[in-house]
Amino acid sequence: MSNYKRTLITSALPYANGPVHIGHLAGVYVPADIYARYLRLKGDEVVFIGGSDEHGVPITLKAKNEGITPQDVVDKYHAMIKDSFRRFGISFDIYSRTSAPVHHKTASEFFRKLYDNGQFTEKISEQYFDEETQQFLADRYIVGTCPKCGFERAYGDQCESCGTSLSPTELINPRSMLSGNTPVLKETKHWYLPLDQYEPWLREWILEGHKEWKPNVYGQCKSWIDGGLQPRAVTRDLEWGVPVPVEGAEGKVLYVWFDAPIGYISATKELTPDWEKFWKDPETKMVHFIGKDNIVFHCIIFPAMLKAEGSYILPDNVPANEFLNLEGDKISTSRNWAVWLHEYLDEFPGKEDVLKYVLTANAPETKDNDFTWKDFQARNNNELVAVLGNFVNRALVLTNKYFGGEVPARGELSAYDRETLEAISQIREEVEKSLENYRFREALKNAMDLARLGNKYLADEEPWKVIKADPERVKTILNVCLQVTANLTIALEPFIPFSMEKLRGFLNLEKCAWQKLGDAGLLPAGHRVNEPELLFEKLEDAVIEKQVQKLLDTKKANELAATTAVPAKECVTFDQFGAMDIRVGTVLEAEKVAKTKKLLKLKIDTGIDKRTVVSGIAEYYQPEELIGRQVCILINLEPKPLKGIESQGMILCAQNADGDLVLVSPVKKVKEGSEVK
Ligand code: MF3
Ligand code: ZN
Repeated sequence: MSNYKRTLITSALPYANGPVHIGHLAGVYVPADIYARYLRLKGDEVVFIGGSDEHGVPITLKAKNEGITPQDVVDKYHAMIKDSFRRFGISFDIYSRTSAPVHHKTASEFFRKLYDNGQFTEKISEQYFDEETQQFLADRYIVGTCPKCGFERAYGDQCESCGTSLSPTELINPRSMLSGNTPVLKETKHWYLPLDQYEPWLREWILEGHKEWKPNVYGQCKSWIDGGLQPRAVTRDLEWGVPVPVEGAEGKVLYVWFDAPIGYISATKELTPDWEKFWKDPETKMVHFIGKDNIVFHCIIFPAMLKAEGSYILPDNVPANEFLNLEGDKISTSRNWAVWLHEYLDEFPGKEDVLKYVLTANAPETKDNDFTWKDFQARNNNELVAVLGNFVNRALVLTNKYFGGEVPARGELSAYDRETLEAISQIREEVEKSLENYRFREALKNAMDLARLGNKYLADEEPWKVIKADPERVKTILNVCLQVTANLTIALEPFIPFSMEKLRGFLNLEKCAWQKLGDAGLLPAGHRVNEPELLFEKLEDAVIEKQVQKLLDTKKANELAATTAVPAKECVTFDQFGAMDIRVGTVLEAEKVAKTKKLLKLKIDTGIDKRTVVSGIAEYYQPEELIGRQVCILINLEPKPLKGIESQGMILCAQNADGDLVLVSPVKKVKEGSEVK
């Protein structure tokens, strides 16, 4: 165990260019929240820091696309993210933002201190420049073909297909995201953090000193360090961001990954005047909760910055998670392939804990994991409802029924009673050990095992049968069950806090300190409990199917958007077009053509005559719905027999990329025989 005095928990600052989804939650905020709640329950001094990352190119690009300012973008999403975290119950001590003045000042001073101490190298280099928009193209302002994997839409800082981190000049066939033009090279000056000089120190500090870090984290650090670290530019030619506080640096801002982690410091400053003890006292344990794509920034670059500054502590651990997929596919904001937190909160009111539970039970701690709605339903119904909810409900209902809500005293104990009480006394050590090692899914399983044991005990002992012959025995059984229940309110408090508050209400029990966990006398005989309500509700198939359907709709919309339109045909003359006689007609009769799947036989009033047309729209329209409808018909197409019926013309349809047909009709009623030209 450590001899730290307090803990500083940081959670990655989400970019304020979109809402938060379950991937963010499972990777970062849910485990960070569990850890914070656990330490607080123990009575430790802890601060839990969050906030929005409001700089960076994706934000300015979004603003440009939507015709609004970057500030508008971040204002919108910061408010949205902050509010959904609050509703979900992520217990930040502060949720700040990097456009806050305190952050600009802190980041600016941090840079200036390193600058004044000669910690940066200055370099003039050639960088891509868009002549049309008169702008340098940093990071995501530029796309091109990845030199490693050939992916054609790799960004200037990273290829999202193979994950390689890139610099713009490595891209093959680079294009500006602003104009689509091929950029030119132009000289510009930037400041670099000479990471190469930190290599021996990083090797010592991480590879020798932190062998206890998670294998995925340690492994990534090792491969970065072994791969040879390069100086990293910490400034950019951009307008949106923290201005570089150096003369002659007009039009330059700090690189977003330089300023954002300093946001943790700024937020702590905003929270308390006593912020320095959290950042500068070696007796503070700092833990960064992040996703795996943030590892290099939190384990290598930010620590090098802190080390260069000289007065700050370094992280004790960086328990980065892998990724959560959704129904087998990578979560993606741009493809709308996600379960959005704000939508979940609206659609599943009162079920915040269900999502927390599922995301923890299925957390991507050691490998990527998959979220499916079926699993969500199963965990709710089979674990929260059938085990935890069922157990505590029966214990409370029976106590009310047999003993008027008074906790009965235990009598003589059977071996099974003792075994069950023994499990209570061991639970704390188990859960603690898992939590201290950032194994949250294991910790939750340990805690749920107590509920499982209680549920089994109750089912085996069958007090509802014993009550007739031996009411004394039932007193002992229910006492044991109630002690298990009371202990569950502590063991599960970090994971499902809303539900445990409710359960304490049923038990008439104050919130207990973590150290009380394991005490089989939390509820003394004679203590009164209340009538319980249901702790969790079963999720019906229809509710889950609705969510699955929503995702299927998204998939369909994406496929449609992805298929490109058929290329244009060759030019026709005006006369060629004019030769086609297209009229508006009204459908008088419609019927299926026997023995075909696709064909309808239609009788059309063309204004000139009434004629028969055979049309391949039977899969898209029922005959009845067509009668009386106006359609466009090519009337001078040479007649053609189809299934023995002479078709005298062609009905016009729009055809999408999937081949689906939609009738083309005038947007308001016109006279039959009107020409379409
Ligand atoms: N905004 C980054 C992301 O979503 C995380 C920033 S973490 C910080 O990947 F440390 F830089 F703040
Ligand atoms: Zn690639």
